[in-house]
Amino acid sequence: MISIIGSGKVGSAVGFLCGSFSLDNIVLINRYEKKAIGEALDISNAIPESSSISITGTSDYSKIKDSKVVVVTASSGVHLQSRTEIMYDQAKMIQKIASNIAKYAPDAKILMITNPVDVLVYVIQKEASFSSKNVIGVASNLDSSRFRYLLAQEFGTNQSKIQDAIVMGEHDDTMVPIFSRVKYDGKPVTDLLDDAQISKITLDVRNYWKYLRDYKGHSAFGIAKNTFDIINSIIKDETLDVPASVLLDGQYGLSDVCVGVPLTINKNGVVKIHQIEITQNEKESLSKSADTVKNNIAKVLEFLKN
Ligand code: LAC
Repeated sequence: MISIIGSGKVGSAVGFLCGSFSLDNIVLINRYEKKAIGEALDISNAIPESSSISITGTSDYSKIKDSKVVVVTASSGVHLQSRTEIMYDQAKMIQKIASNIAKYAPDAKILMITNPVDVLVYVIQKEASFSSKNVIGVASNLDSSRFRYLLAQEFGTNQSKIQDAIVMGEHDDTMVPIFSRVKYDGKPVTDLLDDAQISKITLDVRNYWKYLRDYKGHSAFGIAKNTFDIINSIIKDETLDVPASVLLDGQYGLSDVCVGVPLTINKNGVVKIHQIEITQNEKESLSKSADTVKNNIAKVLEFLKN
């Protein structure tokens, strides 16, 4: 069973994908039960005729019992300039969600979507002592999709010609697009782009969510599909290599912090954290990014104590 906490634009889009691909039974949780029921009624009609899965909408957390995957998309408000803007309210909300997951589905793989995602991966895990391999922050795969798209735009090509576009680090203003590994038609993009182009693409990857906000008001489909891919790998036990946020323990010289790094995921959660070759500059940017997350984690933990 897949449980999705929060059935707003992102939660319902994730539910829609899981339902239409008949992945598993689905429970949508929303504090406004009518909203969850409505989305479930709608998504029910997208389930293939031959499928035996069901989808339920509720505000009752006991319904998530024994879920294999719990996706957290709930939000306590809206952020406008930075994803850390409402981090204290989000952390308070996540505390409650953590205790419900610990009570009803302690062995679930938890996919965190709520922002600031890296901080909240840390918080949910510490709050309920979940195993670190079971808690994954979904964002760097979305950022990597955006990086790939922007590079393709820059080269006037389509994204299938861009290989190994990975974004690491915080899912916010310090994220690190790893230019040194990317190839366009087999050629290193660092041989094809000048500094101004690199700076522009870096800024555009970081601000992509703001462009979505300005054009359509929110982001939903990109994050939903990138989340679906991870759910799919867990439910079907298909190995997936993907960048996502996880608690680090010495990798890249970073510890006791969660940021996006390349992972291998399957039904057991995170089975490998890859330490890929990146340049000295990229390493330094990654360290700075992790420091930003660490700072925010410390502030949030202090706030939660009081
Ligand atoms: C975004 C949200 C999911 O980057 O953080 O679109």
